Amino acid sequence: MTTITLPGLIDVHTHLRVPGGEHKEDFASGTAAALAGGITMILAMPNTNPPLTTPAVLQAACAQAQADIRCDVGLYAGASSEDVAQLPALAEQAVALKIYLNDTFGKLRVDDLPTLMACFREWPRQKPIALHAEKQSVAVSIGLAAVYNRPIHIVHVSRREEIELIAAAKTQGLPVTCEVTPHHLFMDQADAARLGALGDMRPVLGTPDDVAALWEHINSTVDCIATDHAPHTLAEKRSATPPPGVAGLETSLPLMLTAVADQRLTLPRLIELMHTNPRRIFGLPEQPETQVEVEMTPTVIRNESLYTKCGWTPFDGREVAGRVARVVLRGQVVYENGRVLAQPGDGRLI
Ligand code: DOR
Ligand code: ZN
Repeated sequence: MTTITLPGLIDVHTHLRVPGGEHKEDFASGTAAALAGGITMILAMPNTNPPLTTPAVLQAACAQAQADIRCDVGLYAGASSEDVAQLPALAEQAVALKIYLNDTFGKLRVDDLPTLMACFREWPRQKPIALHAEKQSVAVSIGLAAVYNRPIHIVHVSRREEIELIAAAKTQGLPVTCEVTPHHLFMDQADAARLGALGDMRPVLGTPDDVAALWEHINSTVDCIATDHAPHTLAEKRSATPPPGVAGLETSLPLMLTAVADQRLTLPRLIELMHTNPRRIFGLPEQPETQVEVEMTPTVIRNESLYTKCGWTPFDGREVAGRVARVVLRGQVVYENGRVLAQPGDGRLI
């Protein structure tokens, strides 16, 4: 059996549900799940309840995070038309701005052009803007990047036409980066039909041709693998109005290791996608004396071994090519032999 050592992985797209959704996940449980998945730094999304769109709510979330996190965490501020005047104050506490252009969980949405223009004018140039953009919204986002001549990051790209448009934008030299999720790489519409609500998320799972397109661009256009870890309880998923989203922190690396074993990408490329590029694009700090030790051994993903509070994954029962054996963060062993050893408060707020 081969043992591989990786740098601490970075997930730029995690939902930690504080405030308002702590029964799905909280800072302590979500960062435990991250460490169990070989991820030592995460950026948490602002579609909480209330959302992270005002300095007061963001400040309270920062204080809670500081007390509870087991790995390093940065928070996104959310863009909204009501709180657009607050953008400069929000920028002082947030790593990046998230703009939702399409429908998903929660009410956070920007659907008017003046707000979009204000975001691109007012948000500090050195801090990234990430966009949930599907279909035509990808073109809108690229247009704004071009007009305002500032970098954008497009989250969870899932369709052939989207990744091809982003590739064309990059060829033109436009400052556009993007991420894809393991669930969009490893599942398609047939899985959505099989899994029902447990296979429903935004963007929805693609056609086999969409999935093929994401793999065609894995060694070129795609900048980051991001989990879009979006935990909801099984009771919520089995309700009459199931919310979209699936957990991903603990399955992303094992799935991507399977792709390495299948020679769909190299290990150096995996490190680019899950460490180097996220760090560069979001200007994140280095974590000294930090590493992830992986054993390349056939392993079956099981709901029972998860640390995420929601306790389930759509990949339950799937065999993957590797498992996280040990994680060291700043010289401290924080995960070993299936046990999270880091305590709440051990992580640093970015
Ligand atoms: O399926 C999703 N769920 N997609 C998102 O973009 C948000 C997420 C959530 O917060 O549950
Ligand atoms: Zn998300």
